[in-house]
Amino acid sequence: MKTLLRAWLDRLGYEIRNVKGIPEDVVPSWTILDEPLPTDDAIPGEWITNVLELATAAHRPPRLAYHRKAVGEDLRIKYFTYFLDLRGLRILELGPCEGLWSILIEKMGASATVAIEARPENLAKCRRVKELHHLDRTTFVLQDIEDLYNGKETLAQPGPFDLVFCLGLLYHLPEPARALRWMRQEGQRLFLGTHYVEPAESRRYIPQVFHEAQRREGDKTYRGMEYREGGRSDPISGTSPFSFWPLEADLIAMLRDAGYTRIEILGKDILNRMPHITRLAD
Ligand SMILES: C[S@@+](CC[C@H](N)C(=O)[O-])C[C@H]1O[C@@H](n2cnc3c(N)ncnc32)[C@H](O)[C@@H]1O
Repeated sequence: MKTLLRAWLDRLGYEIRNVKGIPEDVVPSWTILDEPLPTDDAIPGEWITNVLELATAAHRPPRLAYHRKAVGEDLRIKYFTYFLDLRGLRILELGPCEGLWSILIEKMGASATVAIEARPENLAKCRRVKELHHLDRTTFVLQDIEDLYNGKETLAQPGPFDLVFCLGLLYHLPEPARALRWMRQEGQRLFLGTHYVEPAESRRYIPQVFHEAQRREGDKTYRGMEYREGGRSDPISGTSPFSFWPLEADLIAMLRDAGYTRIEILGKDILNRMPHITRLAD
């Protein structure tokens, strides 16, 4: 019995040593296919996400290649698949860009999605993706979310919504607290993935584009940093010249002030070289 246990422990130690011995970040050559990213004749030019590689019953990409990205893989997919069950839900998606998450939302069983995008050139790609993938339950709408939360416009395709899906958008807005209040009115539940200010990583907030700031909204003051946005011609930027990134405590305060009472942290990552947090709130 003792010998068996010893043999098993030795084996386990061997496995651990072996796994530990594999250098991280090394991609074996046989996993890399030297193929260009798929393109689309209907909308020529560069696509910034790998949306054309996603498959549905209606669309099969040419061949799935491994394209090593300069800033790493999109870690947010783990929160999407592990924590969300979208079957039968009505979703309000904010800032779909090229529609990559919109495809996944429909594939996950949402009954209807309204996706709001401010850039006509991104919207054209979203509509092309809708056609390719037969996204019959997704509607893409051209509107500026700043106009919506500032009360200048109302949603062209109104709710009610079961979930607001806000990934990659909040940190492009100048008044995130006001935006969160609007989101809470549109749907009780929020899936939020956003960059924020993490003091332990202060070296990442370079002074060329970040500076310390406070935002006063009503009788509340939130601490964080102002970020210089890339302008209208940058396909992934906000529509105002500056956005506001709160500290984590101030982001929680914003969520509470918006009316969310149960706020879960799903995880924290470094995404595109900056601290990122994913939350579910209702
Ligand atoms: C960083 S990309 C995020 C794309 C996608 N949601 C993701 O997380 O992978 C931001 C997207 O939001 C859009 N956007 C930025 N500000 C917006 C606004 N005020 N109203 C509507 N869309 C906006 C941009 O045009 C872009 O498509």
